[in-house]
Amino acid sequence: MNEKIAALLNDQINKEFYSAYLYLDMANYYDELDLDGYANYYMIQAQEERDHALLFMKYMQNNGLKVTLEAIAKPDKEFNAVLDPLVIAAEHERYVTALINNIYHEAHQAKDYRTMKFLDWFVDEQMEEEENADKMISRYKLFGQDPKGLYLLDQEYAARVYTAPSLTL
Ligand code: FEO
Repeated sequence: MNEKIAALLNDQINKEFYSAYLYLDMANYYDELDLDGYANYYMIQAQEERDHALLFMKYMQNNGLKVTLEAIAKPDKEFNAVLDPLVIAAEHERYVTALINNIYHEAHQAKDYRTMKFLDWFVDEQMEEEENADKMISRYKLFGQDPKGLYLLDQEYAARVYTAPSLTL
């Protein structure tokens, strides 16, 4: 495999673990506010990001590529209001989409059809992630500023359960 693509895949492992870290930070913020449903939502989000990291790692292993785990950066976002993590999450997912698109682009350039096929799942996943993140913002804006509305939203997010990724390698 093209070295540049191998390096991008290796870097993506780190980026996905960072995403998990960022979402854990959000879960901690909501836990402090006693918004247990939002905290639950981001705990599960963090699990999904860990799964993404492991999928990239497994794909590299399956292709005989050396995996190098790098240090995970400290989450450096500041949250001062209930809405803040929601906005930051949506921005972050768009950033991740750009990263995936870039690897896809490089794979296409290199005629690495296998990697393109692997990434297809992530392309779909990112569409879903952006849509969900945007919906959390709009629903907060619609209902979340009313205490009863916020309570109901929090109850709804408390019901989210973890499911393993549909992609297996
Ligand atoms: Fe791994 Fe939320 O994208």
